[in-house]
Amino acid sequence: MEFTVKSGGPEKQRSACIVVGVFEGRKFTASARQLDQISGGALTAILRRGDHSGSMGQSLLLHHVPNIPGERVLLIGCGKEKDLGDGSYRAILAYAARALGETGATEAAVFLADLEVRGRDLNWKLRHAVEMTEEAYYRFDQMKSRKSEKRRALRRMVLMVPKRSDLGPAENAVRQGKAISAGVKLAKDLGNLPGNVCTPGYLADQAWALQEEYGVKTTVLEEHDMRALGMGALLSVARGSSQPPKLIIVEYRGGSETQSPVALVGKGLTFDAGGISIKPAAEMDEMKYDMCGAAAVLGTLKAIAELKLPINVVGVIPSSENLPDGNANKPGDIVTSMSGQTIEVLNTDAEGRLILCDALTYTERFNPSVVVDLATLTGACIVALGRHASGLMTNSEPLARSLIGAGKYSFDRAWQLPLWEDYQKQLDSNFADMANIGGRDAGAITAACFLARYTKKFKWAHLDIAGTAWKTGKEKGGTGRPVPLLTTFLIERSENHGQTEA
Ligand code: BES
Ligand code: MN
Ligand code: ZN
Repeated sequence: MEFTVKSGGPEKQRSACIVVGVFEGRKFTASARQLDQISGGALTAILRRGDHSGSMGQSLLLHHVPNIPGERVLLIGCGKEKDLGDGSYRAILAYAARALGETGATEAAVFLADLEVRGRDLNWKLRHAVEMTEEAYYRFDQMKSRKSEKRRALRRMVLMVPKRSDLGPAENAVRQGKAISAGVKLAKDLGNLPGNVCTPGYLADQAWALQEEYGVKTTVLEEHDMRALGMGALLSVARGSSQPPKLIIVEYRGGSETQSPVALVGKGLTFDAGGISIKPAAEMDEMKYDMCGAAAVLGTLKAIAELKLPINVVGVIPSSENLPDGNANKPGDIVTSMSGQTIEVLNTDAEGRLILCDALTYTERFNPSVVVDLATLTGACIVALGRHASGLMTNSEPLARSLIGAGKYSFDRAWQLPLWEDYQKQLDSNFADMANIGGRDAGAITAACFLARYTKKFKWAHLDIAGTAWKTGKEKGGTGRPVPLLTTFLIERSENHGQTEA
């Protein structure tokens, strides 16, 4: 989709389908009111006849509205005006995109930035307009022999802004929305690909592709490199698989040479059967999404490279499969991580932390200013928070504030869970420095406690995205989360370079 911005009233739009919002109780938005006046009360008449109530998401396509040069006008119900918030604004945009997609219009002039969303500026409204439109039109049909037959006529969306002076900031917002959407799309596609296509090697190829396209520096460590580094934890997970593991590093340098980078570490388990502690069969297919942390790292790097953000970011992706096999980890096995700490593998299905701990130790060499890891780490996090918020655990409160703030702005929200010392003893092992599981209680927190033992040297936050990285059930599919949160975090950090407390 092509997005542009323009200022001006609905009466001037010659070719495009005009999209305006209508609230419940026959209340017009500013642009709808304007349209109504120009057309001699055409909208008022329609509402009076009862053809549109303004209820959330209701759409009505009109042709030949008097005194309007364009062929079409699309009314979108916005619900009760007082209920309008971040979520409902985004939903309205999604309804508008879907309804537009059903028309024959090739161009749309969307007058929805005039909706008043409390505390939200134009940047926010336009960014989310772009993101929700792309979200509405996303399809994953790479693996279908017949691609979705329906062709959308719509080619161009013009986002209308109130004033000429808004055009500069509006263009910037659209740029950000497009970059985030591109990152989200990459993350969704990688998540949706099946495990037999999206292997560790496939993820490495994606990193090479980023090098080709954006000039980032990609490095891929092979099994023998990892062995030389002493990554016994990561390698132990890969032992049960015939796919060679990879440690993928992508360095984006948009900031000054001396600026220490933000490190993003993403769990890249391309299929998690659980290993010898094998998972039940139901819904096991969804464990192809166990690389969504990795996908989010690649998606975020794509987004910031599109934006040419003046910041340094390094992505680190440990990638492997976790399968049962004669060579696989066995419950009770003890492995030695790169840090030297030994781990008793009491459950081979708690493999994410095993690959992450070595990746986190490796990340020390970049002297990172902060490290954020993203991982579909625990089912317990879904039990705790459901599928709306990612779990956030950190050793730095300022970093928590920045990430939570970025999550709110991007509607890709995170919720903090405690990481108190008190939980650490759940990881005690009789035979090694630690166990890889902490029992039934607080499973998301004890997983983070495990990682905390490998992140003492830097400011670090862990995002457990088990509940947010993909949708289960009828709408099964990757979400691209937390690319919007991370990209927003990095945009904000690059804007306050050096001045952030975190
Ligand atoms: N990838 C899973 C976590 C997961 C499960 C994410 C279901 C989304 C949906 C992870 O590797 C895992 O298996 N974790 C175990 C840990 C347990 C053995 C301590 C879990 O959550 O059951
Ligand atoms: Mn597992
Ligand atoms: Zn896993």
